[in-house]
Amino acid sequence: MAGRIPQHFIDELIARTDIIEVIGSRVQLKRAGREYKACCPFHDEKTASFTVSADKQFYHCFGCGAHGTALGFVMEYDHLGFVEAVEDLAARAGLDVPREGGSSAPAQPHDEIYVALERAALFYRQSVSGEAKARDYLAKRGLAADVIQRFGIGYAPARWDALLDRYGATEDERQVLHRAGLVVERQAEPGRARTPGFYDRFRDRVMFPIRDTRGRTIGFGGRVLDGSEPKYLNSPETELFHKGRELYGLFECRQATRSLQRLLVVEGYMDVVSLHQAGITYAVATLGTATTPEHLQRIFRLVGEVVFCFDGDRAGRAAAWRALENAVSEVKQGRQVRFLFLPDGHDPDTLVREEGAAAFESRLAGALPLSDYLIRELSARSDPTSVDGRAKLVELARPLIRKIPSDVYRELLVSQLAEAVRMQPTRLAELLQAGEGSGPPSHGETAPTRRRHARHVHSAATGRGNLVRQAISLLVHYPAAAAGIQGTEALDHVDRPGVALLIELLAQLREDPPSSTAALLERWRERPEHAPLSKLATTECLVADTEAATAEIRSAIERLVAEDSVTRLEALQEKAREAPLSAEEKLEIQALIRNMAKGARAGRAK
Ligand code: GTP
Ligand code: MN
Repeated sequence: MAGRIPQHFIDELIARTDIIEVIGSRVQLKRAGREYKACCPFHDEKTASFTVSADKQFYHCFGCGAHGTALGFVMEYDHLGFVEAVEDLAARAGLDVPREGGSSAPAQPHDEIYVALERAALFYRQSVSGEAKARDYLAKRGLAADVIQRFGIGYAPARWDALLDRYGATEDERQVLHRAGLVVERQAEPGRARTPGFYDRFRDRVMFPIRDTRGRTIGFGGRVLDGSEPKYLNSPETELFHKGRELYGLFECRQATRSLQRLLVVEGYMDVVSLHQAGITYAVATLGTATTPEHLQRIFRLVGEVVFCFDGDRAGRAAAWRALENAVSEVKQGRQVRFLFLPDGHDPDTLVREEGAAAFESRLAGALPLSDYLIRELSARSDPTSVDGRAKLVELARPLIRKIPSDVYRELLVSQLAEAVRMQPTRLAELLQAGEGSGPPSHGETAPTRRRHARHVHSAATGRGNLVRQAISLLVHYPAAAAGIQGTEALDHVDRPGVALLIELLAQLREDPPSSTAALLERWRERPEHAPLSKLATTECLVADTEAATAEIRSAIERLVAEDSVTRLEALQEKAREAPLSAEEKLEIQALIRNMAKGARAGRAK
């Protein structure tokens, strides 16, 4: 496994990156005073409401609300994951991406594995021409030369050491082949002391290279030419290859279409290749696994619409239901999830060959929306005309409905479901809420506390005239202002939402000042506070410079502490009316009054 990318590197990367250059290379920017403007690349508009600030290294669209750092922009605009975006910016800045996890890992620990996989892919491709049975097989499956080439399809010779012979001369090389998943370690035999060695994993198979979003080969799927078992053999999990995350054909889809609108998820390698050959170049496949939440997240980072296509047999229906179970937690405004079931005995490969791309696409157009499929299945699995059947329906629906993150969508689905089974929507909603706690869905133990935490920050960040919010906002806009703030211990006692975040920010910014607002935000990327902090960066800041910000923050902290003293004093006085105070409490009252008087004098002196 690759280690985490250290935060100090992200800091440096942001400091060495110019957001104007990064965005400017993708979008036409116009200078407007201290900022740059453009028509927003994330929504349709005629007037430029997309602004980029060189000072903050931050962009914000006043039209659609999109905002973020250079890293965030690359992730959104190029549809990359965090690590990929970091690699992209690092390459631009001429930096190597280091990984945490010890001195044993070299700076680019995967390089040699990528190389081994690329060599293997080339070797397999070249092996097709020398092998009549491989050529015959591909011809029999009706694969055209150009699609074979686009997908890099090859053939692994029927030998135990074809790859090993070529690329495994030394022990180091064999270890690399092993880490790449290309060779298998021979089991030691009892009574034989000699180290057992390796053999080629893929033999006498048609080879489908599996590529990452940048087109690098990360693994293979290999199909037998005859009826032997297993029909398909995949690379094992390696440091580069994770079955549950990859989608076969995704790279080829993105190569074929500049801006993908939708993806079609099918079951097999052959289905993908065959659909592409027919001109349906937005087909991908999971690698013999169920559709995972990770797959869905990847898909929705790229497109708003996905159609799952399954064979009409029992296995296909089971797989479809599993996909639905994972998909419900991803449904949101602007996303469309649909299901297409093929006639029994067909898969996309056979069907598109038989009836052509146009007919296949008209089937796609009629694919079932997620809600329809869900309702149909739930009704079929219970008998909603009977009392028992309705109870069963409610039980089946509850876990799914609870996973839906959008209130609007959830309510819509409940009312559709109610209509389908002829129940009162309010009654159904009640039944769905009963049984378990009626709160929002929670995953795992830490979720509720994290959510509460995030809400606090959020309320601190949105409450009008809120002192904590003001101070945090100023720090986001002028991180360097923290250097001028001393003695914040008094804040420790202040019990208000967001104070803990303020204290943490002040300490962090003083200890290790970030180069810009963007660098500050990147440090919070994985924390629940990241979103509210980024939001603050989009608000207008009326303070002109760091010095003014320091003064404002100082005064906000003083007022916070003073207000807190008043609250505490009032509480003690209240208590004194009911019962005599302890000696300690009396001392505290005196100290509070003293401090307040001092604060008032200081306030007048300003
Ligand atoms: P063809 O028979 O070549 O048309 O392949 P197919 O894609 O139609 O095969 P099938 O519908 O049987 O399987 C769909 C997908 O499941 C395949 O593309 C593989 O990813 C996976 N799969 C099928 N059989 C096996 C197997 O024996 N082992 C593994 N690991 N995966 C398999
Ligand atoms: Mn097939």
